Amino acid sequence: MALLDRAIVRLLPAVPKPVVQRLSSRYIAGPTLDDAMRVVRALNAARKLATIDVLGEEITNADEARAIAGQYHDVLARIDEEGLDSNVSVKLTGLGLELDYDLCRDNLESVVVDAHARGNFVRIDMEDSSTTERTLQLYRELRREGHENLGVVLQAYLRRTLDDVPGLGNVRLCKGIYVEPPAIAYRDFDEVRANYVRCLEALVDQGTHVGIATHDEYLIGQALRLIRAAALPPERYEFQMLLGVRPERADQLVADGHRLRIYVPYGTHWYEYSMRRLQENPKIAGYIAADTVGRLVGR
Ligand code: FDA
Repeated sequence: MALLDRAIVRLLPAVPKPVVQRLSSRYIAGPTLDDAMRVVRALNAARKLATIDVLGEEITNADEARAIAGQYHDVLARIDEEGLDSNVSVKLTGLGLELDYDLCRDNLESVVVDAHARGNFVRIDMEDSSTTERTLQLYRELRREGHENLGVVLQAYLRRTLDDVPGLGNVRLCKGIYVEPPAIAYRDFDEVRANYVRCLEALVDQGTHVGIATHDEYLIGQALRLIRAAALPPERYEFQMLLGVRPERADQLVADGHRLRIYVPYGTHWYEYSMRRLQENPKIAGYIAADTVGRLVGR
C-alpha cells in the first residue's frame, strides 16, 4: 500500500460515519434481509454461490445475541423458500461469545441444527486472536457431536495456524484482518503469503474441504497450481471472495469452471465491517479524495 494510503488508513477512525457508509456501500448488500436476497439472487444468476453474514458483532447483551441467532433462522428460511444457493457465516461474538460461552454455544447449535434440517451449512468466521482458542473449541465440540454441516476459518497470519490444521474437516483459509502482535502473528506481507501456501498444502494433503478465501493474485495462482497438482475434484474446494472486491476476477474463476462463493454481509451494524474493508482497500486515499471533491462540487 502506498504511503499516502497508509496515512489515510490511520486517520480512518476520524472520518465521519456518513462518509464511511458511502465509501463502503459496495461491500455490503444493504440494511435488510431483502437486500441480501436481492444480491444473492443476482450472484446465483451469474453462477456464483454466496454466504450471508448478519452484521452484528457490536452486541452488548444476551437478548441481542439471541436476536442475531433469530435473524440467522430468518435467513436460512428465506434461502430455503427461494431455493437460493447460499449458506451462512456467523461471528461468535455476535452470538454472545464475550458474554457467556454456553449462551453462544446454544445460539450456534440452534442455527446449525436449523441449517441441517434445511440441507444447509454454517461457517464460523474467525475474529481476533483473543477468540481463536474458544472458536476452535466450539467448532470441535459441535463436530464431535455429529454436526458435520459446520466449518471454521483459519488465518494464515497467525503463527499457530499450521498447528491448528490437523483434524479440521471444513476450513476457509484467509490471511486474517485483525491487528495482532508480532509475537503471535506474521506481519510481513511475504511471510503471510508463504504461511498461507504452507497451510493450504497441509489442508489439501489431509483431505479437508477448503475455501480458498483471497483476492491476492499470487495466492490464487498458487492455489490453482495446487489444485492441478493434486487433481482436486470440484467438490473438495471452492474459491471465496468478498462482495465488492475484484468481481471481474471472480467472473473469470467461474468461467474457468471453479466453484466460487461470495461473502454477502447485510444489516444495520455496518460500521466495524466497513472500517476493516476500507483499511485494506489499496486505493483508499483516492476514494476519500474523490468523495470529498464530489461533495464540494455538489455543494
Ligand atoms: P490483499 O489484502 O493483499 O488483497 C489482494 C488484492 O485484492 C489487493 O491488492 C486489492 O486489489 C484487492 N483488495 C483486497 N481488499 C480490498 C478491498 N477492501 N477493497 C478493494 N480491493 C481490495 N478475515 C478474518 O480475519 N476472519 C474471517 O473470518 C475472514 N473471512 C473472510 C471471508 C472471505 C470470503 C474473504 C475473501 C476474506 C475473509 N477475511 C477474513 C478477510 C481476509 O483475512 C483478508 O483480510 C482479505 O481477504 C484481504 O486479503 P487478501 O488475501 O485478499 O489479500
